[in-house]
Amino acid sequence: MTARPARPPLRERVIVALDLPSAPAALALADRLGPACSFVKVGLELYTAAGPAVVAALHDRGLRVFLDLKLHDIPNTVARAVARAGDLGVRFLTLHAAGGPAMLAAAAHAAPPSLSLLGVTVLTSLAPAALGEVFGRAVEDVGAEAERFAGQVGGAGLAGVICAATEAERMRRRLGPEALVVTPGIRSAADAHHDQRRVRTAAEAFLAGASHIVVGRPVTGAPDPRGALERIVAEAEAAVAGPAG
Ligand code: C5P
Repeated sequence: MTARPARPPLRERVIVALDLPSAPAALALADRLGPACSFVKVGLELYTAAGPAVVAALHDRGLRVFLDLKLHDIPNTVARAVARAGDLGVRFLTLHAAGGPAMLAAAAHAAPPSLSLLGVTVLTSLAPAALGEVFGRAVEDVGAEAERFAGQVGGAGLAGVICAATEAERMRRRLGPEALVVTPGIRSAADAHHDQRRVRTAAEAFLAGASHIVVGRPVTGAPDPRGALERIVAEAEAAVAGPAG
């Protein structure tokens, strides 16, 4: 059996998606979460509203930042954006694997060692019928499509992938023990699914081979966000038998 690579404790690999409309809203939530949270995701909404300043303010609070911009453009444009993200000091940055091998290779070349690039395979909101409409052909197995994209991500030398937890196991097999496998679409049995289609619990995601999970609305929309996050972490830690995960 291949040895598992050394990773930070599980609780430091639970990333909270700060999908909020402004810097004050995001920083207030980060402050409410306190030490329960060490890694946050800044996505399209917050970055469009508040830009590099909110990333700096999160860094000032000692948080690690995942910049989820899902870049998809010509190789030169993406490479230059990757370099600027590196300047911001963020740890993770996403790009769409569908941008193609040249785009992925240019991005990998432009990233500083401190920045891990993650390829988005298939959005967790896409069910087979919707993906079939995008591709213009029938899709039976979304996981197989995600794995095809993951092959391109691995081939270009990116650090890992974003995928649904339902695909984490095959991604881990495909990409090996060192790869980052980051799974959004995390819901407990009682949670609303919202627009997510392929959901799993935090525990299931880690057990399936996720290195990190991303949790948004189950935390940001909870009356007690810190309590909600602590419950998710505790359940996952118990399931994987220990905080080292
Ligand atoms: O609120 P929820 O837990 O559904 O948030 C999931 C987060 O993960 C959102 O910020 C979304 O943009 C992001 N994401 C996703 N599916 C992907 C990549 C990122 O849901 N494939």
